Amino acid sequence: MKKVVAINGSPRKNGNTAALLQNILDGAKSQGAEVELINLVSLSYKGCTSCFACKRKGTEFVGKCAVKDELTPVLEKAMAADAVALGSPIYVGDVTGIMRSFIERFAFMNISYSSKGSWHKVARKNGAFVYTMNVNNLQSKLFFYVYMMNTGILKKFGGYTAQLLATNTYQFDDYSRYDALNFDEAKKRKCRETRFPKDRKKAYKIGQELVTK
Ligand SMILES: Cc1cc2nc3c(=O)[nH]c(=O)nc-3n(C[C@H](O)[C@H](O)[C@H](O)COP(=O)(O)O)c2cc1C
Repeated sequence: MKKVVAINGSPRKNGNTAALLQNILDGAKSQGAEVELINLVSLSYKGCTSCFACKRKGTEFVGKCAVKDELTPVLEKAMAADAVALGSPIYVGDVTGIMRSFIERFAFMNISYSSKGSWHKVARKNGAFVYTMNVNNLQSKLFFYVYMMNTGILKKFGGYTAQLLATNTYQFDDYSRYDALNFDEAKKRKCRETRFPKDRKKAYKIGQELVTK
């Protein structure tokens, strides 16, 4: 049975990102995969500490991180999975700090400073990245470099990759309680009612493809 792991980089366990990741997992499950959702916010860990244990000659830490903390089992599960789905809100123009710290560890332990392609030999793995954000479709292009870098990392695993951008997301339960005049609540509500359900369907399809492709 194929295994698909989704990793949520939002501090909100029931937010937009979590919803889309759940749809990905539902799609994967519909194709017979075993699925798991991991919320990074519940874990205590840091980004790469630059210990270089994974780069030492003859190291046992090829494709493994030598730092032992609550991210260790997550890295192990991500490496053992047939597909990983990563999700993050855009925070100040990038993924969240907790997602970035995960990526530092996940990528650096697989990076080789000597191999062609700068990557250790790894088992083929499919991967998807879901981003959610306040800005609209046009403005979302501003974060092109972030998408390119993250998809580039997923592509190193040699499998099928997909990306989903959910824009103009609904951020607050009740906009009337917040000072947020730059956002048009009516427009956002419309997006939540019309566009977001379409994004959820796209996520479901990506989940299916993570298993079938
Ligand atoms: C600290 C912080 C920074 C944010 N920065 C951005 C940003 O730079 N661009 C943007 O489009 N949205 C930004 N947002 C909005 C979130 O990306 C958006 O509401 C997202 O859908 C939240 O995801 P969640 O519901 O999964 O938590 C920011 C939100 C927070 C809390």
